[in-house]
Amino acid sequence: MTAFAPLLRDSDFQAAWYYSAVIFAGIVLIGYGAWLVLRRLRIMWRQGDRGLAAALAGATTVALLMITLMLSIPAIGFLFGPLFQKRQTTWVRVGDIDNVPVGLPTPFVVKMPIGSGPPTPPVDRVVYVLKLAGGEMFSFANTCTHMQCNVHWDPDLGQFLCPCHGGLYDMRGTNIGGPPPSPLPQWVHRTMVDPATGRTILEVKNQYDESI
Ligand code: FES
Repeated sequence: MTAFAPLLRDSDFQAAWYYSAVIFAGIVLIGYGAWLVLRRLRIMWRQGDRGLAAALAGATTVALLMITLMLSIPAIGFLFGPLFQKRQTTWVRVGDIDNVPVGLPTPFVVKMPIGSGPPTPPVDRVVYVLKLAGGEMFSFANTCTHMQCNVHWDPDLGQFLCPCHGGLYDMRGTNIGGPPPSPLPQWVHRTMVDPATGRTILEVKNQYDESI
């Protein structure tokens, strides 16, 4: 089970556009500069300044390599940096769950922080809370394990239904029909009693439970 929700950030797309534009502009400028230098070198070569032309060709090659390297480093960092970053996890308050009916998955929407990197606004995520008569409690994400469509609880079916390819899950999140290969992910969660009100409060982490 993947440890973290697929949380692609808007800032990632902005950064990708930025680096693509920088790299494209760099290629155009370098190409134009190289063409001018080559033209000049050819003239010098024909005029007999072969030593100077060779020296200039070497210096130009080194300069172009250095410029290419300087342009590439930020892009390489953007592409491969996430492999070495540790996503920051944090607890998010879901709310008072005392009124959640037993045996009925009940959706809450939370503002979920999306981890490391530059500050980005939290995103809305759904937490389905299920309480069972024996006191067991689950907190499912609504992300289908087939191709990450959003599932919803269908009260007529008494099952979670994925609208994309008809995937079905029972109320415990177990995949029971269609293409989903595994159960619904469950958020890492904890409950506590609010000392001021005596109500039960649920919190989840921006991380899935790996035990399922
Ligand atoms: S994405 Fe849910 S069944 Fe395919």
